[in-house]
Amino acid sequence: HCTVELRKSGMTMEIPKNKPALQAFLDAGVDIEFSCEEGVCGACETRILEGEAEHRDSVLSGAQKAAQKSMMVCVSRCRSDRMVLDL
Ligand code: FES
Repeated sequence: HCTVELRKSGMTMEIPKNKPALQAFLDAGVDIEFSCEEGVCGACETRILEGEAEHRDSVLSGAQKAAQKSMMVCVSRCRSDRMVLDL
């Protein structure tokens, strides 16, 4: 599991590392925008404040993925044990 802090929502939750983060956020009632749920539209792009994601989308370039500044939460997962997101 990864401990994810959603800074704007003031929420912290445990998310499995083998699943996309979006479903956990929706289950917790987090207000989040999304559309395609396939990592192609960019609607769910979320800023990473701390930690690293396992990127699975086709929106970010390789360099953007390596920069770990944002992630598409519909398909991407946590890589580090702790992440802080701007949500
Ligand atoms: Fe389209 Fe995440 S909802 S990229």
